[in-house]
Amino acid sequence: MKEIYFAGGCFWGVEHFFKGVDGVAEATPGYANGNTENPSYQEVYTDTTGFAETVRVRYKPERVSLALLTRLFFTVTDPLTLNRQGHDEGTRYRSGVFYADREDRPVIEAVFREVEARLGVPLVTELGPLKNFYPAEEYHQNYLDKNPEGYCHLPLKTFRYLRLFQDIGLFLGQEPDSVARMANTSALIAERMRFFWTGFYRVDGDQLVLGPFQGPPACQRIGYGKGVCGTAWKERRTLVVPDVEEFPGHIACSSLSKSEIVVPVYGKDGNVKAVLDIDSTELACFDTTDAAWLELIAEYI
Ligand code: SME
Repeated sequence: MKEIYFAGGCFWGVEHFFKGVDGVAEATPGYANGNTENPSYQEVYTDTTGFAETVRVRYKPERVSLALLTRLFFTVTDPLTLNRQGHDEGTRYRSGVFYADREDRPVIEAVFREVEARLGVPLVTELGPLKNFYPAEEYHQNYLDKNPEGYCHLPLKTFRYLRLFQDIGLFLGQEPDSVARMANTSALIAERMRFFWTGFYRVDGDQLVLGPFQGPPACQRIGYGKGVCGTAWKERRTLVVPDVEEFPGHIACSSLSKSEIVVPVYGKDGNVKAVLDIDSTELACFDTTDAAWLELIAEYI
């Protein structure tokens, strides 16, 4: 068993999230890296103790890697807001990854660099050794299980995506055929998330060609740099389009589609080999939470 400490804002939601991760044996909310001993919640709440609300995650490294845990941490943490996560403000809500084992640092650091490269700006999330940790009072343990209507700064879809992500991994297993992988991935996303259209376009020369999908019939070919899909391919980045009418060159397969997200799928050689395209009948259906999870899912292909 190994352990790692994640400060990602209010520990109620962060604890609940990590308890749902396969391979995690224990997630314990508490206070880390402060200047006193045995602090109470009220003391930490004054924001003068230096403690950060932190979750101690004990995990089985043969079932879940530290790299994946750190990547999952970034799906629930905004690494660009200093001393704030969601509506919660104060140094006690600063974000950080604290390690108990120095040898963990390079693995965590590599994920930090990856996230930084994607965002294009330096992260404010701390990375450093654990100095101290005190489990929080009993009423904070399993808070959201005890209080299902209780406050959670994480959007509900985070928890649905976590299950979806883990189930896709189990379903696809070691299947070598990428069309089979795309087929089950689109089916699972559609079944769980109920989007209007979920599917893949595969790179075929200088065009994208329709791949496995769920939803109404769609256009079969899209040129490089054309539409949202061809642009995501060209720019090699996820595109979140809150209103398709506002996207120059958007290709309308259905007038019912109002918002869209397109995520590139990379091959082993680093080239884009497909895109994952999801449409919704609602405006502004997708945000950075969807982008983070769909990017993780795209890596399964
Ligand atoms: N709207 C996409 C075309 C594909 S359909 O959404 C399924 C685009 O502009 O690339």
